[in-house]
Amino acid sequence: PLVYLNGELTPLSEAKIPVLDRGFIFGDGVYEVIPVYNRKMFRAKQHMARLFRSLDAIRIPNPHTEEEWMALIDKVTSAHPADTQLVYMQVTRGVAKRAHAFPADATPTVFIMTNAFTPPDAATVDNGVRCVTTDDLRWQRCDIKSISLLGNVLAAQYAAENDALEAIQFRDGLLTEGGSSNIWIVSNGAVYGPPKSTLILEGIRYGLLEELCAACNIPFGSRAITRDEVFAADEVLMTSAGREVLAVTVIDGKQIGTGKSGPVFRKLYAAYQDAKR
Ligand code: PDD
Repeated sequence: PLVYLNGELTPLSEAKIPVLDRGFIFGDGVYEVIPVYNRKMFRAKQHMARLFRSLDAIRIPNPHTEEEWMALIDKVTSAHPADTQLVYMQVTRGVAKRAHAFPADATPTVFIMTNAFTPPDAATVDNGVRCVTTDDLRWQRCDIKSISLLGNVLAAQYAAENDALEAIQFRDGLLTEGGSSNIWIVSNGAVYGPPKSTLILEGIRYGLLEELCAACNIPFGSRAITRDEVFAADEVLMTSAGREVLAVTVIDGKQIGTGKSGPVFRKLYAAYQDAKR
């Protein structure tokens, strides 16, 4: 597969960055993950807007206009044989002598790659997935899609070691999000997520789920959600670019609701599949 790195389309194996890149040294950069269905980017505008917000938040000058970004992504996805892909892109502050504060004159490093993407299979959709819970160990700007992902990596590893797809994180006893997903509860037929704040990443599926709920006449709200409310929920849902929307049917070995994917999930899943077309 071809990847884009700083102005060039090259084979992945030939794409190299200097060891002093601040992404490598400090985790000083941001990223995006964008689904492509049948060669068309899904919610492209929203992903671009979030990339721009992330860049702004850490004061990396945006190296491209939206049109340029779209054209670059298009180059990379066009070169890939799969019609359905997951694009990964990242921007770091660039290469500079190691010193924590921003360098005076670094040029941002821009990297774009794509992979074939297989959405969750029918069995996963029908049965739902297992999760575990963990303390949220991350910093206080989780709204920035930073490449510094140590907390998320440790959460994911904890899940992997406990036969779970995801670790659901709590800060001060309140639900934040999954290691790489947003988490929702269904209670009395309504969907609730934690409020948008600096303590969670506002997934592109946050706004999408709200829209899908409106279209399906499912009440939608955001509010602080306790651990007990998660375990007592009728259904728990997970959303992310790669997982789309999934039912969480077991948490810490305990069954959620009926232990099967529920009716609200099934409506939203169907609506999500429609939205992709
Ligand atoms: N992760 N919260 C976190 C911490 C995430 O890393 C992600 C996505 C989400 C969901 O956002 P979205 O709906 O925009 O995918 C929420 C991506 C997919 C990743 O890191 O691979």
